[in-house]
Amino acid sequence: MNRIFSGIQPTGNLHLGNYLGAIRNWVGLQHDYDCIFCIVDLHAITLPQDPAGLRASTREVAAAYIAAGVDPDHCTIFNQSTVAGHSQLAWVLGCLTPLGWLNRMTQFKEKAGKQKDMAGLGLYSYPVLMAADILLYKATHVPVGEDQKQHLELARDIAGAFNRAYGVEYFPLPEPQILGTATRVMSLRDGTKKMSKSDPSDYSRINMTDDAETVALKIRRAKTDPLPLPDSVEGLADRPEAENLLDIYAALASIDRDAAIAEFAGAQFSGFKEKLADLAVSVLGPIGAEMKRLVAAPDHVDAILARGAERANAVAAPHLAEIYEMVGM
Ligand code: ADP
Ligand code: NA
Repeated sequence: MNRIFSGIQPTGNLHLGNYLGAIRNWVGLQHDYDCIFCIVDLHAITLPQDPAGLRASTREVAAAYIAAGVDPDHCTIFNQSTVAGHSQLAWVLGCLTPLGWLNRMTQFKEKAGKQKDMAGLGLYSYPVLMAADILLYKATHVPVGEDQKQHLELARDIAGAFNRAYGVEYFPLPEPQILGTATRVMSLRDGTKKMSKSDPSDYSRINMTDDAETVALKIRRAKTDPLPLPDSVEGLADRPEAENLLDIYAALASIDRDAAIAEFAGAQFSGFKEKLADLAVSVLGPIGAEMKRLVAAPDHVDAILARGAERANAVAAPHLAEIYEMVGM
């Protein structure tokens, strides 16, 4: 069976983009693939972080997976730092990765800020760790949002570099799976920026644990333009906010963009936003409530993570032993 690896950083503020662009798709894949869903805490410490916040967010991400319907009996759910192979393989792969490849990564440029020399080595080598995450399990498919496509291409290049260096087709080249209609959910405050955990404006994103009132308020305040909703795709040109809200509606309603456009052709934003808020609350409400329940009594989540770590390590450890053997260690 083909194997999937994917993950989310426990950096707080899990949002609608993480749900529509990642977690919801995983639920639909879990019976057709051997699925490994990780909480990538080693990635989360590549930017300034706080230990208590990291611990809480780790459980929150696990709770989100479970509450959204990722079944821990079918999938391996675990915390990255509990399987040592991720760091160990990252070192081996880092030794094969030319700096020139890393210098091309746009996410580093965005996250490093203006003082590039002050950015951490971990932030710079983040894509090497991501390659290790995937290759450690010889995953064949990686469901990701558009934002991670460049990193996945690098993971393929690194896999190829390893295979060439050691003269064997050891790692399969992992395929990106860009799924669904919401592969890039944009900020509610600026339709040209992606919705992100790290956006300083809380009104830029809908968090998975927001209550109904907050969701409705954020959608009411979402930036729009003065025109009514268009009656065709062409009418969305240069209207990123309208496009984003319609795409969110379509994704939540599990319809395509054309159907959403047809439903609201010529409508005012105010009425559309009310419908969108109701829909968002009906989809996210039960998931957010279940997340809160799971996080309030974390023994269940912790037990799932412990079992997941064992299962992940059972796959990872023999691979790492083979890799070390090939390297001569
Ligand atoms: P963030 O970028 O919010 O910090 P992560 O880097 O942890 O989130 O990404 C976790 C997953 O969520 C990845 O698969 C990523 O592609 C997806 N994702 C993140 N933001 C969005 C978004 N705005 N729209 C769609 N998918 C997203
Ligand atoms: Na991301």
